[in-house]
Amino acid sequence: MKYSIKVFKPTGTSDLLYNSVIKYIKKPLRILDLGCGSGYVGIKISNNTKHKCNFFFSDVSSAATKLTQKNILKNKINGLVKTGSLFLPWRGYRFDIIINDVSGICKSLSNISPWYNKSIPANSGIDGTNLTIKFLDKTLNYLNKNGLIFFPVISLSNSKKVLSFAKKKFRFLKKIASKDWPLPKEMYNHIELIDDLSKKKLISIKKKFGLVIFKTEIYLAKV
Ligand SMILES: C[S@@+](CC[C@H](N)C(=O)[O-])C[C@H]1O[C@@H](n2cnc3c(N)ncnc32)[C@H](O)[C@@H]1O
Repeated sequence: MKYSIKVFKPTGTSDLLYNSVIKYIKKPLRILDLGCGSGYVGIKISNNTKHKCNFFFSDVSSAATKLTQKNILKNKINGLVKTGSLFLPWRGYRFDIIINDVSGICKSLSNISPWYNKSIPANSGIDGTNLTIKFLDKTLNYLNKNGLIFFPVISLSNSKKVLSFAKKKFRFLKKIASKDWPLPKEMYNHIELIDDLSKKKLISIKKKFGLVIFKTEIYLAKV
């Protein structure tokens, strides 16, 4: 895999998402990796499943989609890569599995995090939910019958708001993985901001042994 300073580098959440999705691939399927960054999640699935799936990748960042295109060629994956926001590139398409990994943490935190920089789009709003909620609102229009939707909810966003929206939208919603992480060291310089977001209930963190802990949960949704 190739990475670039202008494109999101995979994190523990990327691997948690991959590990959660791969278990559900039991036959050839059409799989969309939305918010693909370098293409890491979809490519790792393709490299580790024995089923001949069709892969589709998209990201609003053209640096990301160019890199994904290089990475799928390198990995000899026959995938389709498109550039555009959320489902804009996918009018008329339907998928069996939709993996959402668009930016989903408070904007003020992505600004100070080691994961994002000015070249990596993260217009997720003050509570980090804007893009995920837009995704959840539209995703059923792009899902085949019996299709599955996977998405992470990071506690550096208003998780409760995302989950209450998802509960209204889907008949089936299940948490299938969860992992705690220590906040990256660089972010402790902004502890007042973090405490303020937590007090306003825009994020949810724990403090343990002098560390700030946040959480990623992976959800599976279907009709
Ligand atoms: C958390 S990163 C995930 C990247 C990749 N899935 C990974 O695990 O490395 C979020 C990605 O969402 C993309 N993104 C941000 N806004 C978007 C939008 N409106 N539509 C599609 N992708 C978006 C960013 O460019 C970034 O690549």
